[in-house]
Amino acid sequence: MAKDVCVLAYSGGLDTSVAIQWIKEHHDVDVVAIAVDVGQERQDLEFVRQKALDIGASESIVVDVREEYVEEFLAKALKANALYENKYPLVSALSRPIIVKYLVDEAHRCRARYIAHGCTGKGNDQVRFEVGIAALDPEIEVIAPVREWDLKTREQEMEYAAERGIPVPTTKASPYSIDDNLWGRAIECGVLEDPWVEPPSDIYTLTADSRGDSCDEPEYAVITFEQGIPIALDAEVVSFHEIINRMNELAGRHGFGRIDMIENRLIGVKSREIYEVPGALTLITAHKALEDLCLEREVLHYKLGVEQKWAELVYNGMWFSPLKEALDGFIETTQQLVSGDVRLRFYKGSCVTVGRRSAYSLYDYNLATYDEADTFDHEAAKGFIDLHGLPVRVWARMRRKVGKEGEV
Ligand code: ARG
Repeated sequence: MAKDVCVLAYSGGLDTSVAIQWIKEHHDVDVVAIAVDVGQERQDLEFVRQKALDIGASESIVVDVREEYVEEFLAKALKANALYENKYPLVSALSRPIIVKYLVDEAHRCRARYIAHGCTGKGNDQVRFEVGIAALDPEIEVIAPVREWDLKTREQEMEYAAERGIPVPTTKASPYSIDDNLWGRAIECGVLEDPWVEPPSDIYTLTADSRGDSCDEPEYAVITFEQGIPIALDAEVVSFHEIINRMNELAGRHGFGRIDMIENRLIGVKSREIYEVPGALTLITAHKALEDLCLEREVLHYKLGVEQKWAELVYNGMWFSPLKEALDGFIETTQQLVSGDVRLRFYKGSCVTVGRRSAYSLYDYNLATYDEADTFDHEAAKGFIDLHGLPVRVWARMRRKVGKEGEV
């Protein structure tokens, strides 16, 4: 009888390479490796594909999902101005659900009983994988080798690998754990685990140092949006994907887009995280600036709460969940008239909005101006304030009557 199949999310790194053998030894299955291209830098994916076969995978596949990642996942994140804890643009959290989608598709194609991932037991990513898989196919069983095996140290892992002929890294391992994709880079571990230590400058690859090698002259860019999505740069029509790349370069050379934060992981631990997200932060800055102009006040205010919840859900592994989908519906509706231009200035670590315009602008010069073009009804303000302040006036009178005037 043919063996059961396990589809493994494969990165080419030590953990998932060792996992190929470990899974075969512990579960009597064939392992199908799949590497998902979400725009990681520095990776030769054909090499990664071959490596899985050399180690013992029965099949090995690479899928390039960058276009879908941009159009489906990053588009939603931008419309939601998604920032977990008002800071982190969800770099890793956004890539996991698309990886999950391809893992489950592959599992169905080869009638796999299991899906495996290389996450540890301490992070958010295990949750994102496993809840995501459950949402797309609740019958698939998960194997999490790195959480289950007793290879406590990297040395033990290297030894395990060497004994089985699994190629081990010959260069000294980076002290950092790095995860990256088109939306930016996440850097953890090493000296960064001391929240008092300033991040060493060599961890950054996308951004120049704003006190050192960043540009000495300011630069401007005009981003054009249509229904919440960037469609042109300096009047040249380019894809959203290309705009992300160009914004990573432009903001990066001005040293904009570094985040150093203490973050609350879902599993209850606080961790120190460094993110490098020049393009993502630039686009969110611009998108918000256009929304300020185009969204009616109540929608804008309500959306702020929705954005926070959306980011929290996605961070917590709930991309495929009914509430997240319902919020997508709300957000999509708000974007119908978010079209127009935003002008940004980059200089020495900053990205500042310096102009915005839209055919759907709700900014009315005649209402806003203090000069003679003013059409605002000043008389109406008095009656408005009387009624708006009425409950407070009633309350103040009561307090005076009971002799508690002025106390809080
Ligand atoms: N803390 C971030 C998150 O949960 C980044 C995780 C990055 N993973 C990594 N292996 N460095 O989304």
